[in-house]
Amino acid sequence: MNQDQLKALVGQAAVQHVVPGSVVGVGTGSTVNHFIDALAAIKDRIAGAVSSSERSTERLKAHGIPVLDTSTVQGIPVYVDGADEIDHQGFMIKGGGAALTREKIVADLAERFICIADESKLVDVLGNFPLPVEVIGMAAAQVARRFKALGGEASIRPGVLTDNGNPILDVRGLRITDPLAMETEVNQWPGVVTVGIFARHKAQVCLLGTAEGVKTLS
Ligand code: 5RP
Repeated sequence: MNQDQLKALVGQAAVQHVVPGSVVGVGTGSTVNHFIDALAAIKDRIAGAVSSSERSTERLKAHGIPVLDTSTVQGIPVYVDGADEIDHQGFMIKGGGAALTREKIVADLAERFICIADESKLVDVLGNFPLPVEVIGMAAAQVARRFKALGGEASIRPGVLTDNGNPILDVRGLRITDPLAMETEVNQWPGVVTVGIFARHKAQVCLLGTAEGVKTLS
């Protein structure tokens, strides 16, 4: 199976974790696109979705799945999203698709984060994938200097603004041995909108697509 087939496998498997009658939290990315397509088959059994990006909203609506404003939703049982890296504790790097801020907002509404990923995303230590950080533009240079002091090399992602109109810094060369501590630290820096470490909002379950089928890590 190629990588996209593994993504399709876990996207379809995640539908079994959807709570009937509930509002479903929907992430962003190529793996989630498979989940959205599979969700369409049970759209009459859910109350709708809250979405983490304009792209996912568009795809959900194209399937006739109602997309609710997050401000009208007090909580959701399940949020389904992909990851750029996930470790064995469920800590993740996210934001490769530049949707990290809205992803964290929707994840914060959820009781359970179900991560769907192909097996290439599972790592022992986070940091091989460049860490995405959404910043206010005028803070970018100072945030980059702060990362340099931690051994990271930050550069602006060319030609990309988030759905919130902000640039993304991609930080290479970090070895994130304590994701909770680094997320807490970077969150304090002025001008950081969202750091792509999902440790406080880690995955409770990971559906991992492997050549042998879907493995559930929890
Ligand atoms: C978007 C994300 C995605 O979940 C992450 O980039 C994984 O994407 P894909 O499913 O396309 O591999 O964090 O901001």
